[in-house]
Amino acid sequence: MTILVTGSAGFIGANFVLDWLAQNDETVVSLDKLTYAGNRQNLASLEKDPRHHFVQGDIGDAELVADLLRQHHPRAILNFAAESHVDRSIHGPEDFIQTNIVGTFRLLEAVRAYWSSLGEADKTLFRFLHVSTDEVYGSLEPTDPAFREDNKYEPNSPYSASKAASDHLVRAYHHTYGLPVLTTNCSNNYGPYHFPEKLIPLVIHNALAGKDLPIYGDGQQIRDWLYVKDHCTAIRRVLEAGQLGETYNVGGWNEKANIDVVHTLCDILDQEKPRDDGKSYRDQITFVRDRPGHDRRYAIDATRLERELGWRPAETFETGIRKTVRWYLDNQTWVENVTSGAYRDWVGQQYS
Ligand code: NAD
Ligand code: DAU
Repeated sequence: MTILVTGSAGFIGANFVLDWLAQNDETVVSLDKLTYAGNRQNLASLEKDPRHHFVQGDIGDAELVADLLRQHHPRAILNFAAESHVDRSIHGPEDFIQTNIVGTFRLLEAVRAYWSSLGEADKTLFRFLHVSTDEVYGSLEPTDPAFREDNKYEPNSPYSASKAASDHLVRAYHHTYGLPVLTTNCSNNYGPYHFPEKLIPLVIHNALAGKDLPIYGDGQQIRDWLYVKDHCTAIRRVLEAGQLGETYNVGGWNEKANIDVVHTLCDILDQEKPRDDGKSYRDQITFVRDRPGHDRRYAIDATRLERELGWRPAETFETGIRKTVRWYLDNQTWVENVTSGAYRDWVGQQYS
């Protein structure tokens, strides 16, 4: 048996593949374009592992995807591939439209042709699982209930609008063609291999480098944080037992204001790697211009996933964030490698 994982060299995709092969021997075919966010090093431990085949390529390359499907005959496809950073979508939305909308469409077309060609037994077993985000639901007021699966889609950034479009395409392929799809909408992840353009790894990296810790606006925006391994177990569970055509919200029950997250990171770093001058990393916090159209609050109601499929996160924010800081302290070479070259150009453009 084989699964095809797209976007497997990125943050969540890499964690998923590593976790998958740590749990069972089912072969993984990885498809990743290796954009700035994709990094072969994330999968370095699998280089000689016969259960893993890595292919560099685009989900929008219909011929390549069709060949891979013919050759490897996967029983499931997990689609993690995407442009994922909101700030980059504000500076340049084009890549988001191309990969998240057109790319997902091309992938769905190739998968539809493959699935249609399968025998009845394989057709029934087959699954296409689309990994999406809570940002498609828009922004919450402080007292609004958390997002449920039946919330309206109200995306506010080019990133979330492109993810919303991809979710709609996936839904339509089920409704119209019967393609056996599942969709997960998850809150903010954190953990190992998180690219340091995102808040948590950026703050850890900048703190250790003696740089400013940039907080957008007043720092009171709220996100619901989930340790990445918990997201991976949720996806495995949905793949295993999710109802076809349905969506499942995944979240950590961990709503935190950005400023509180950054304070926590500074406090852990003060304990684990104190500054040479004995001062706190909190002194490096700087309030900067807000993100245009910045969503104020996200929160996920993950009750459905718990009630129907028995999933709950294993980590609390307190345990997960400490593990994460330790991972970054222990993996400074990884950080150095991913923060060279193009990364510096991005930081220059975004924070100058
Ligand atoms: P990431 O940016 O770290 O990784 C994305 C990966 O996709 C990279 O390896 C990149 O090279 C690859 N990729 C990009 N365009 C591609 C294309 N056209 N063809 C093939 N590969 C391509 O993103 P992530 O944080 O790991 O997110 C993975 C998925 O999970 C995305 O769909 C994202 O929307 C979703 N998601 C992320 C979070 C989060 O907090 N990071 C939360 C909820 C959902
Ligand atoms: O909610 C799920 C989403 O979470 C995913 O779909 C996205 O792919 C993922 O990038 C993430 O989006 P956010 O925009 O919430 O994550 P980010 O880490 O970029 O920002 C988290 C919060 O921190 C947000 O309110 C913006 C703020 N922020 C971010 C950066 C990079 C800062 O205050 N300063 C910063 O320098």
